[in-house]
Amino acid sequence: MSIKTVGIIGAGAMGNGIAQVCAVAGLNAIMQDINDAALGKAMKTIGGSLERLVRKGTLTEAQTAEVLARIKTTTNPDDLAVSDIVIEAATENEALKLKLLQGIDAILPPSTIIASNTSSISITKLAAATSRPDKFIGMHFFNPVPVMALVEIITGLRTSEATADTVAELARTLGKTPIGVKNSAGFVVNRILCPMINEAVFTLQEGLATAEEIDAGMKLGCNHPIGPLALCDLVGLDVQLAVMHVLYQTFNDPKYRPAPLLQEMVDAGMLGRKSGQGFYKYG
Ligand code: 3HC
Repeated sequence: MSIKTVGIIGAGAMGNGIAQVCAVAGLNAIMQDINDAALGKAMKTIGGSLERLVRKGTLTEAQTAEVLARIKTTTNPDDLAVSDIVIEAATENEALKLKLLQGIDAILPPSTIIASNTSSISITKLAAATSRPDKFIGMHFFNPVPVMALVEIITGLRTSEATADTVAELARTLGKTPIGVKNSAGFVVNRILCPMINEAVFTLQEGLATAEEIDAGMKLGCNHPIGPLALCDLVGLDVQLAVMHVLYQTFNDPKYRPAPLLQEMVDAGMLGRKSGQGFYKYG
């Protein structure tokens, strides 16, 4: 099946990044969110990201206009009905995702694939909210989407091979490298990455070193591009906390307990870059 139009639910960091890479790859993208302010902010982010590509010489001004013309925005989920695939990239909240997926399932023709960009929630469980578990799959992108080369393709218990093949091909069309992963909380990358970030928060909470020193340690000692606390700010402390909750609840293993400081900071509204303050302050 050839994919020409991609519907995206959610215009946040992941949703707008997915819309951008689809449009850059020559596909039509329809991005849906609940209000025009969120969509306007998303289009501004995409504009800024495309400007970087123009500055680098990978895109011309004329191509930028074409890319932007391929991205439509809407507040009406019915407008996603023309999509060949819909990728759900809403907030990492199971109840919300189940509700959105049930809603979109009722709107889309039976042939349309539905993918979730969830960071950790069971694909099998999300699939069960729809009438098409064979055409439901996890398509997990990484932040910032235009830069990160990986997409995890997560098959739930009832995902068909044809769906997995189509979605892996889509990832390649977007210039990404897909890896196939069996359904399990946090999949592969977040199962490894998020406990590492959580442990960094514990080291900060225990006063072992400052945030800057912890991050310098992992950058200089392990060659990570940014430190774990700066990465947590990029990903969002709320997302990191949500993933740790899913890991902890699913595996029932204390090694996944969220660091209390992480919970405290989320309670205080310190969500990282998106709120202007996390482990660091942002202008
Ligand atoms: N759009 C387009 N290009 C962008 C961009 C964006 N939003 N953000 C950065 N770039 C490009 C820059 O133009 C630059 O390109 P160049 O090297 O060709 O000139 C390159 O990326 C590096 O950017 P900067 O020089 O501005 O900044 P850094 O060197 O600090 O790199 C980074 C930024 C690429 C984000 C780097 O810090 C990094 O790789 N960090 C780790 C990111 C990571 O691990 N992401 C995964 C998070 S986990 C996740 O998302 C899963 C979720 O479920 C939780």
